[in-house]
Amino acid sequence: IAVDPFDLIVFGATGDLAYRKLLPALYHRHRDGQIPDVSRIIGCSRRPMTDEAYRKTTLDALEKFVPQHEREPELVESFLKRVFYVPVDATAEKSGWADLAKVLKEGKDRIRAFYLAVSPDLFGVLCEGIGAHGLVTPETRVIVEKPIGKSLESATVLNDTVGKVFKESQIYRIDHYLGKETVQNLMALRFANALFEPLWNAAHIDHVQITVAEALGVESRAGYYDTAGALRDMVQNHILQLLCLVAMEPPSQFEADAMRDEKLKVLRALKPITGATADHVTVRGQYRAGASAGGPVPGYLEELGNPQSQTETFVALKAEIENWRWAGVPFYIRTGKRLPTRLSEIVVSFKTIPHSIFGDAAGQLASNQLVMRLQPDEGVRLWLMIKDPGPGGMRLRHVPLDMSFAQTFKVRSPEAYERLIMDVIRGNATLFMRRDEVEAAWRWVDPILESWSAAREGLKPYTAGTWGPSASIALIERDGRTWHEELE
Ligand code: BG6
Repeated sequence: IAVDPFDLIVFGATGDLAYRKLLPALYHRHRDGQIPDVSRIIGCSRRPMTDEAYRKTTLDALEKFVPQHEREPELVESFLKRVFYVPVDATAEKSGWADLAKVLKEGKDRIRAFYLAVSPDLFGVLCEGIGAHGLVTPETRVIVEKPIGKSLESATVLNDTVGKVFKESQIYRIDHYLGKETVQNLMALRFANALFEPLWNAAHIDHVQITVAEALGVESRAGYYDTAGALRDMVQNHILQLLCLVAMEPPSQFEADAMRDEKLKVLRALKPITGATADHVTVRGQYRAGASAGGPVPGYLEELGNPQSQTETFVALKAEIENWRWAGVPFYIRTGKRLPTRLSEIVVSFKTIPHSIFGDAAGQLASNQLVMRLQPDEGVRLWLMIKDPGPGGMRLRHVPLDMSFAQTFKVRSPEAYERLIMDVIRGNATLFMRRDEVEAAWRWVDPILESWSAAREGLKPYTAGTWGPSASIALIERDGRTWHEELE
């Protein structure tokens, strides 16, 4: 379904995010006939460039990130006609704002969305510029990318800065994990099926695991990454959002504030991890040289060019939610760079049966597990105990009921940004983070960072291409559990 006509102004138009994700995502939406004719994509950045030159950049991006069979020449051409460029240097005297204002005048009644795909240092000056030049119409929204701060304090400052020019209802804080098909599917699984919700609590669930593993290292992003680390880069946002979707109470409807109210309650119920507790329930690691994808790879410190860095590229931790539904159910989380493979999964492990009627000969009974595979090979597996075929008696085996998205649907799965950008245009904030959520997540993360900086020796090395420091395995085995086996 087409959306209403819009102008999307992308600050940071010559940056990595625009090139790799935003332009290809917009092309796909155009290809599906969702972008009305008069709509414009207006790139803005410091670099002087003509419309033609930016169209050339856009074409490069499409050639790189859109498969050839999806690049029909007439569709590419009509897409490029919607792409424009206005140089704006928000920090310079001759800034370019007046030129942008002139271009936007033409579509003054359209939906207008400013995408701040830039470093957060520029949020303030860009928002001020947008406000001061009278570019905020009643139909205007702003899209803010992470990182939203490095701590509660800096996040509050950033939120205040953006909030001076835009109302909360105009601000769309992107967490691209919420745009992933499989993450949305988590809500369908929980709230569109009668089967799971009655069991979705401490009486029936033993524990939950969330793994977001990446095979890549930090490479060209080392400069940014070293100021963040895995806890800020992945846990504070993406993983806590996943945890919220698993743990939240059913919202009364699939609507922005109803959803966000429930997620906020989960964040507020997270048991604080402070001081010495952090030593017991968190593990942080940093990769050393090793092997990945069949070849040798350098360690983090070499990539960064700074042998002193204490930044973690891996974190494992045990989180607990102090409420009626989840009391006593640990949520084990792990994420890291340079792990053996790219893989994101949520594993819900149910409690074992109270008594086996089958005796020792049946073999050991494993617990039921619901495994939601977020990427790659998206799918859902429900592990059950099943009788091994054969006349030899009652031997049991743990086997999955298996649903693969690719096999079941046989359609291209849209990228997160396709869904999210169109949601902004539609004015649907359900999959975006509200200010209080972001701040509540920082409120939980800050004390962990503080206790780490008080105990600097806690960072553990791991070899690139392995599952992180052995302390991560010890973290879960101490509780008599193991990381989900399919991963290893
Ligand atoms: C980003 C992080 O938000 O998410 C990156 O900054 C990380 O460090 C990326 O690589 C992972 O996203 P995806 O969609 O590839 O799982």
